[in-house]
Amino acid sequence: MLGASRRWRAEGRSIGLVPTMGALHAGHMRLVETARGENDVVVVSLFINPMQFGPNEDLDRYPRDWDRDAKMLQEAEVDAVYRPTAAEMYPPGASTRVHVRGVTDGLEGAARPRHFEGVATVVTKLLAAVAPDRAYFGQKDAQQVAVVNRLARDLDLGVEIRVVPTVREPDGLALSSRNVYLGPEERKAARSISAALREAAAAYSSGERDPVRLRARIAARLTLEPLVHLEYAELVDPATFQKPGTLAVIAARVGKTRLIDNHDVTKPFPG
Ligand code: PAJ
Repeated sequence: MLGASRRWRAEGRSIGLVPTMGALHAGHMRLVETARGENDVVVVSLFINPMQFGPNEDLDRYPRDWDRDAKMLQEAEVDAVYRPTAAEMYPPGASTRVHVRGVTDGLEGAARPRHFEGVATVVTKLLAAVAPDRAYFGQKDAQQVAVVNRLARDLDLGVEIRVVPTVREPDGLALSSRNVYLGPEERKAARSISAALREAAAAYSSGERDPVRLRARIAARLTLEPLVHLEYAELVDPATFQKPGTLAVIAARVGKTRLIDNHDVTKPFPG
């Protein structure tokens, strides 16, 4: 991959990278379109990274549909797809891990031990393999954005990290590859996650500034929904992921499916 990048670079063409794990949906494609608009060359990486899945997580059943993904990427006029195998990414003996401190301590970092170490390691390797000018990440995974921003700065990677707003279903549910796990009743109940964020933003705009009360509102909205089990709801600083802040972040289980979402309560909720 680096050879092609060096040629593009020599021709003076700018390169945008969109890292994904496949099972592409309109959220991923928004990242691709944004990259398309800002770069001469767009590379999408597709790698289901075993290192970022915990032992009891969904690595084995994570959705895979390469034919569909390939077609979507072709239609979006992507210049190259980087699709390494696990053995290429992590050859025998590979033992380096990238650990970003602080911002990974709480929330997703606490719920999914070593998850962000897997993300930071693979993102570092993808950036090294493609050497893009810009790399694109979705606001949907807000803590991942904070980790990648920190990583790019701390390791002087010289890449511009671009963040793209969350793409949602008409009823507010954030698009996610994991939404395919939801049964019809669960899908209906899942709407309460974005509804809770919408209510928190409305409360903020009506003058509520107390993060404890904003948090309580979100929790109350989600406990109304019998199929939804709230894992956490917090208001954090979007860069450090420390409390207090104005970014409302939620993780909830809907049946067996774990979903996350977030919204900056100082801004109106879209739609
Ligand atoms: P994946 O879950 O495939 O997501 C790839 C990118 O798409 C991430 O930056 C994610 O935030 C973004 N994305 C997902 N749903 C979105 C939505 N509804 N709106 C906007 N963007 C959305 O995140 C990963 O893969 C991996 O951790 C990865 C960064 C590829 C490292 O393995």
